[in-house]
Order: sequence, then structure tokens, then C-alpha cells
Amino acid sequence: MTTHTNRRWLLARRPKGPVTEEDFTFDTVEEDPPAEGEVLVAMRYISLDPAMRGWMNDAPSYVPPVKLGAVMRAYGVGQVVASNAPGFAEGDWVTAPSGLQSIYRTRRRGDLRKIDPELCPTTWHLGVVGMPGLTAYFGLFDVGQLEEGETVLVTGAAGAVGSVVGQLAGIAGARVVGVAGGPDKCRFLTETLGFDAAVDYKADGVQEALAAACPDGIDVFFDNVGGPLLEAGLWLMNDHGRVPLCGAISQYNATALPPGPRSLLLAIPRRLRIEGFIVMDYAERYGEAVPRLATWAREGRIQTRETIVPGLENFPAAFARLFSGDKLGKLMLGV
Ligand SMILES: NC(=O)c1ccc[n+]([C@@H]2O[C@H](COP(=O)([O-])OP(=O)(O)OC[C@H]3O[C@@H](n4cnc5c(N)ncnc54)[C@H](OP(=O)(O)O)[C@@H]3O)[C@@H](O)[C@H]2O)c1
Repeated sequence: MTTHTNRRWLLARRPKGPVTEEDFTFDTVEEDPPAEGEVLVAMRYISLDPAMRGWMNDAPSYVPPVKLGAVMRAYGVGQVVASNAPGFAEGDWVTAPSGLQSIYRTRRRGDLRKIDPELCPTTWHLGVVGMPGLTAYFGLFDVGQLEEGETVLVTGAAGAVGSVVGQLAGIAGARVVGVAGGPDKCRFLTETLGFDAAVDYKADGVQEALAAACPDGIDVFFDNVGGPLLEAGLWLMNDHGRVPLCGAISQYNATALPPGPRSLLLAIPRRLRIEGFIVMDYAERYGEAVPRLATWAREGRIQTRETIVPGLENFPAAFARLFSGDKLGKLMLGV
């Protein structure tokens, strides 16, 4: 009987503040061959997403918290290594809600989505044509209702979602301003991704720099970060501006939430529409967005960057890089 060694990260306790290695248990188990109707997938890449930090908390959200002792929730791409189910053969590439483990066993139809490795790099399914790209697309065009000629401000602009937001806005004929940490990332935004301006939020004078970069104000403010940057952007909103609230990474590790934003009162006279959204709400329309994102990425109109940290066992340190910013574009683990 051929078994497969499964290496796994289990949630051992609820983290307080930033994640530490002690919040998890790493173990290995032998997986038997698939029973009738089951498929075994060897994961190749696992996505590291800021949302995972929220799933570790014992708090109600759009998905239930990960149970203590369970494999940590995560999504990835892999290859079928053994199949006892129709429609899946050894070697097939799939995306899967695998969890943080090297072997994923499933019998649920619809869990696995086959992907064509000839169409685009398989890692793109975790980035530009996966959840981050879809978040950018629906957040900007549906929630943000972007029109040609408008000004877009995007925070977390050198990340997986933000970098696609800015480039989609450019394709749509908007003026694009990005916020990122440090001069290198800001240069990357303007020189490589074609943003019209970039603001380094780690430098002094962020409010003034934002005002200078947005001389006609902001029409769509796509916020990935929350906290002081959300407050700073709101001061510059134009009448009838739209604010797709995508994420608040500056607060995910907080043990006490900060007050604010103080600029929220402007939403009334300026008739702002501030709307939170979750990409999964658009699942029925992914088919509309994926071919467009794939075409633009293949044509180079959307540039992609990936930071792939090798080794599943490096999860805790790799995950911390989402919060320190020590990475460019989409962060993932090579399994
Ligand atoms: N609503 C949805 O359905 C949905 C779906 C996907 C993602 N999201 C959200 O979208 C946001 C971006 O996700 P992503 O996957 O694209 O992550 P990412 O942007 O690739 O990585 C996170 C980035 O956030 C920046 N950052 C970290 N702490 C910060 C702080 N205190 N202030 C300002 N910037 C900070 C870092 O860049 P710097 O080096 O520039 O600091 C880091 O690289 C997250 O908030 C995530 O939760 C929401």
C-alpha cells in the first residue's frame, strides 16, 4: 500500500498580537490511499493571506474561526497524486481549500478546480487570476464604480491586491496613486507598474504628500490597510467619492483597536459611499473576471510579482512578512 507523508500545521492556541511559532503544532501523518470517491492532492504552493490572521481568532466573521487542533485554513495549488474519483487523474493541477498541509484529501465535489498549467503559471491562480486579482477587480469596478478620468488612491499598493487594483485603474483610464512602505516599493509602483504617483507612508509628512499626489482630490479610495492611512485618505475625498473597504491589515494584530478615523464626519457633506465587501460575494461572476485578468497579465498590462518562501515548515516566519512588508507582490509558501 502506497502511503503519502502529510506535513501539517495545526492551530494550537489563539494568537495574541503577532503570530508566533508556539501558536501552532507541526506534525506528520501517513495518508492511506484514497477511498472510493476520494482524491489526494500534493500541494505545491500555499497562499499566505492577511485574512488568515482573522480566522485564528475566536470571533464571529464571514467564515467560522479555525478550531483549535485543526489544520490551519489556507488555499493553494497542487497536483493530484492519487485518485479514486471520476474526473480526476494523477498529475492534474488543481486549486484547493487545502489548509496548511502538504497532502489534501477530499471527497467533496466542487472543492477542487482544475487548472491548465499551459495557460499561465500555476502560481497566478493564487494571485492575479486568483482571489487577490478577483478582489481587486470587483472591489474597484463594482464597489468602487470607477469612471475614466477619475483619481484612485490605493493603500497596500505593492501587495497582491493593491498592485492589481492600481494597474486595473490605469487600464480603465484613471489617475492612480499608490501608498506603500519605503522608497524601493514606491519606485516599483511608478517605474514598473506605471502608477502616476506613489507615497511612502513610512516617511514623514504623509498627509501633505498625499495631498500633493492627488491635486484634484480622490474619487475612489481602495483601502487595504485601515487606521491612520484610512483617516488620511478620507480627508481628500471628492463629493460622491466611493471607498471600497477591502482590508485593515494595520489592525489585524492589534490587541486593542485604535479610535477613529476622525475624518469620517466628512462622509456626510461629501456624500461618500463607504462600503465593505468580501470577494466571495462575487463567486458567481468569477467567470467574467478571470479571462480578462489572465489576458491582461499575459499581455504584460498587469505586471505580477511573487515572493515564494520555500518550505512548508517556514510558515510562521513567512506569515510575519505580510505584516513587516518584507516581500513584494503575492506572498506564498513553496511546499
Ligand atoms: N475583502 C476581501 O474580500 C479581501 C480579499 C483579499 C484580501 N483582502 C485584504 O486586502 C488587504 C491586502 O491583502 P493582500 O493579500 O494583497 O496582502 P499584501 O498587500 O500582499 O500584503 C500585505 C501588505 O500590507 C502592508 N502593510 C502591513 N502592515 C501595514 C500597516 N500597518 N500599514 C500599512 N501597510 C501595511 C505591507 O506592505 P508595505 O511594505 O507597503 O507596508 C504588506 O506587504 C488585506 O487587508 C487583506 O485582508 C480582502
